[in-house]
Amino acid sequence: MTNEKRNRGWYGKLDKDGFIHRSWMKNQGFPDHVFDGRPVIGICNTWSELTPCNSGLRDLAEGVKRGVWEAGGFPVEFPVMSLGETQMKPTAMLFRNLLAMDVEESIRAYGMDGVVLLGGCDKTTPGQLMGAASVDLPSIVVSSGPMLNGKWKGQDIGSGTDVWKFSEQVRAGEMTLQDFMNAESGMSRSKGVCMTMGTASTMASLVEAMGMSLPTNAALPAVDARRMALAHMTGKRIVEMVEEDLKPSDILTKEAFENAIMTNAAVGGSTNAVVHLLALAGRVGVDLSLKDFELGGEIPLLVNCMPSGKYLMEDFCYAGGVPVVLKELGERLRSATTCLGGDISVYAGGAECYNDDVIRTMENPLKPAAGLRVLRGNLAPNGAIVKPSAATDALLEHEAEAYVFESIEDLKANIDNDDLPVTPDTILVLKGCGPKGYPGMPEVGNMPIPGKLVKQGVRDMIRVSDARMSGTAYGTVILHVSPEANAGGTLALVKTGDRIRVSASKGELELLVDEAELEARRAAWEPEPPHYTRGYAKMYIDHVLQADKGADLDFLVGKDTRPVTRESH
Ligand code: FES
Repeated sequence: MTNEKRNRGWYGKLDKDGFIHRSWMKNQGFPDHVFDGRPVIGICNTWSELTPCNSGLRDLAEGVKRGVWEAGGFPVEFPVMSLGETQMKPTAMLFRNLLAMDVEESIRAYGMDGVVLLGGCDKTTPGQLMGAASVDLPSIVVSSGPMLNGKWKGQDIGSGTDVWKFSEQVRAGEMTLQDFMNAESGMSRSKGVCMTMGTASTMASLVEAMGMSLPTNAALPAVDARRMALAHMTGKRIVEMVEEDLKPSDILTKEAFENAIMTNAAVGGSTNAVVHLLALAGRVGVDLSLKDFELGGEIPLLVNCMPSGKYLMEDFCYAGGVPVVLKELGERLRSATTCLGGDISVYAGGAECYNDDVIRTMENPLKPAAGLRVLRGNLAPNGAIVKPSAATDALLEHEAEAYVFESIEDLKANIDNDDLPVTPDTILVLKGCGPKGYPGMPEVGNMPIPGKLVKQGVRDMIRVSDARMSGTAYGTVILHVSPEANAGGTLALVKTGDRIRVSASKGELELLVDEAELEARRAAWEPEPPHYTRGYAKMYIDHVLQADKGADLDFLVGKDTRPVTRESH
């Protein structure tokens, strides 16, 4: 052991405090010698039966422990808040920052020297990383891993993506309700996260591309024995990282974020990566803005996974996974340190592609330039985003009249009205779904196509909102409009019948209403009273930043690495 460990402030004292810290831990059967100064490794676990995507993490924690013991460390598992994307109301995103606070304060308050973050479901990965980055102890990620491919009636079906498709087919009268219900069981056949390239697999892929996990972490199926082996190897590695004092701030550099942005484009990753990367960058003090995401605009779509393509995460794993994508990025890849201590190019080094239809080459991509596009204009002065790889090309350059839903309740009540004055050209606008407005910026931006148009076979229209959308969703959906309507953004002023111009190629989102008229509307606008008036949700509404800043809480930006000085007893 080379350096004085942080845990000595808890377990190295020969006074009353040391007695208390050790003695109470010994009630679990730990012998004297585990308090001898070896690295104490926290295993930060978001396991929960209410977060089914993370239900395999108890097993993986055991794998991590094996590795920590083998390397001479002392593993201690602890729970933090878990965020079940499909289970929480009003939306799991409301609680991402609360998880981040839980993680940060747990790591800081306990006597650990390094931490393994066990997460998977959409918000658990960024929430854990944000919290750990703000303490900046050596940290590494083990993800849940994706579920096995969905199977139903002889076909592969993908989490989320096929739910949206089936749901539209039921509305169009093309699928029976019984078939719809039967597909549920076929879709979710094992533990693990959504097996499309949704937000969970996107974030796991970006974590790997940033070097915050061991190679192959993102794509190995949750139930693949090799994931347990990866957990074991991660446990070994974190002990070494503590000895090397290799911290998130050494790994999460601007270059690492640029690698993540390019990887997100190449894998056809989730739009949610934008708010999560911006928030994480804020924690580590990296100057990242929406403009940096334009770097992804030059990157071709390489990974043929739903929702942008046709395969699923199991196929991506068997084709070689993230290391193959990094290899394809080649010279574009920035030099950046990884959790292994070497450069990210090491991850790409030995990679081999075993199915070039699942992971395409730069010479034969699925789409030539498919990274997220940032749109700006008077309708989104601070930016909005669209995901061309999941959009209809013809709609990416479009001008038409808007039909406005003032709230999610308005949308739900009226979307299927037969007399809704919309055509396939209409631009649907939804307000009140931003960070403050909903609150929590839910995944409702991919609003359903109006019922009367679904029956005519329409499957995509331009939709504009201050909301997010599920990483498993698709369509020409303009998201994260900033400032949001409830913060007084121009979005609040849009009326049905106004014309809107969208140009993805020029990066424009314009409300074609003259400035005098907008000023008059602004003068008459009154903010909606908040939906929550107490507890964490009130604190969130009062302090949340807009989407272009990652929707973190203003007082959580940055980090605090000072030692904890005051004793508890
Ligand atoms: Fe948990 Fe998709 S809902 S990963």
